[in-house]
Amino acid sequence: MGKITAVANQKGGVGKTTTAINTAASLAASGKRVLLIDTDPQGNSSSGLGIDKDNLSGSLYDLYTGSKNIDEIIMDTSLPSLMIIPSNIELIGAELELSAKDGRETFLKNSLETIRHQYDYILIDCPPSLSLLTLNALVAADTLLVPMQCEYYALEGISMLLRTFNLIKDSFNPSLEIEGILLTMFDGRNSLANQVSDELKKHFGDKVYKTLIPRNVTLAEAPSHGKPVILYDVRSKGAQSYLELAKEILGNETSAG
Ligand SMILES: Nc1ncnc2c1ncn2[C@@H]1O[C@H](COP(=O)(O)OP(=O)(O)OP(=O)(O)O)[C@@H](O)[C@H]1O
Ligand SMILES: [Mg+2]
Repeated sequence: MGKITAVANQKGGVGKTTTAINTAASLAASGKRVLLIDTDPQGNSSSGLGIDKDNLSGSLYDLYTGSKNIDEIIMDTSLPSLMIIPSNIELIGAELELSAKDGRETFLKNSLETIRHQYDYILIDCPPSLSLLTLNALVAADTLLVPMQCEYYALEGISMLLRTFNLIKDSFNPSLEIEGILLTMFDGRNSLANQVSDELKKHFGDKVYKTLIPRNVTLAEAPSHGKPVILYDVRSKGAQSYLELAKEILGNETSAG
């Protein structure tokens, strides 16, 4: 049964999409069957995997509006065991349609029930807000993967994140767990980065991944070529760090039984 992990942080630009694409690709490269769901109207996960988001034959929007079922909106990517449900700006409209529906918070969860057994991992790239789209992702998820940029404001983000996490747990999804906190755009020469990292470890203990994602220009370039970084330049520091993260995730799985 595929584990569903939402990649989420209400703060913008912290590396959610970069992490969703490259963790999904790295898990797929190690032989896992992976589905990436783009639930951000910005559609960055879709374009980052080479999908022409302005000419979609089906997208998450069609699922939410009921015009297509989930099998009809899953697309191939350039990695054989990585699939994607794409999105584009149309998805903003789904929010309105959804808000009028009964069970508006559980729509994605219910839709995934019929396909989750086909995958080992389902990753959901969330937008930088607590919209109904994000809520659907957090309600569908078994776990939460939180990318955090090592800067001063990351610490302020912690309390906001914990509030949201507890809210979801108390209302719609009592079994939601934190998969891990991932430090992104890390620069070890920066003393603030080290301070933030220490602070996060104080709050979250071993939930903070040992793998650090360095600031690496190749990670920023890869999406404009429509490729996950392992297909763009596998020897780059960025590619190696996400491959290491996938290994850590798989290792945690084994040790958790
Ligand atoms: N480790 C990194 N090194 C260098 N650049 C990075 C790294 N991670 C992300 N970036 C760049 O930083 C910007 C923001 O990253 P990304 O889009 O992954 O963040 P996000 O949290 O998904 O943003 P949003 O909140 O808008 O969805 C992008 O231009 C991306 O290419
Ligand atoms: Mg994003």
